[in-house]
Amino acid sequence: MVVNNAAAKGRPEQGAAPSGGSAARVATSVGASLTALQVMQDAPVIPVIVLNDVAHAVPMARALVAGGVRMLEVTLRTPQALACMEAIARDVPEAVVGAGTVRTKADAQAAANAGARFAVSPGYTSAVGQACRDLGLSLLPGVATGSEIMMAQEDGFTQLKFFPALQAGGPAMLKAWSGPFFDVKFCPTGGVTLQNARDFLSLPNVVCVGGSWLVPADALATGDWARITQLASETAALR
Ligand code: 3PG
Repeated sequence: MVVNNAAAKGRPEQGAAPSGGSAARVATSVGASLTALQVMQDAPVIPVIVLNDVAHAVPMARALVAGGVRMLEVTLRTPQALACMEAIARDVPEAVVGAGTVRTKADAQAAANAGARFAVSPGYTSAVGQACRDLGLSLLPGVATGSEIMMAQEDGFTQLKFFPALQAGGPAMLKAWSGPFFDVKFCPTGGVTLQNARDFLSLPNVVCVGGSWLVPADALATGDWARITQLASETAALR
């Protein structure tokens, strides 16, 4: 079993940001704690990954790292997800594994036990926020409305996932939010592609985007790791 060593507790992460580019890259050694902003700043994209086979986890993670993408969101949507996180945490120290689709306190606990170092949720509840805080997991809470942003902010979270980004208003929504929510940074996810990622990344309140396009199901099925590296490289070059 891989143990999550990030033991930081208390208020969620709002610390100073690294300066950007390669200098922004953070230590990936086990035990180094990460802020949500560091998770967002490491690359222009956080890949949203769905894995059905543990054997795919390590070569896929290595392929993404080879393309310059290290913050990996493995979604809790398959029975194999936790074992995949464990494998990546154990065998790919250059990557930072996180858990996506975290909806409950139990999800957060299981993800931390599997070695996840950050969490992403499709929506926000205070229970999930508190659980991640207690576990030392950086959380990117999902929001789609102003009220949800205010609830997350009330609990101290100011780096948020905008989900589902394209369906819920896209870049225009983010521009509208930049007024009242001038102190919030977003990771838009949902409907983002290599083709439209720049529309989001060019906005001052967007730090990175999230998306599933870097890890296509057919590339996993055929073991086409070179294609995954290529997709990661193309995306990493967007910044
Ligand atoms: C998700 O949680 O499924 C993500 O938002 C990915 O969405 P995408 O498949 O549109 O990138």
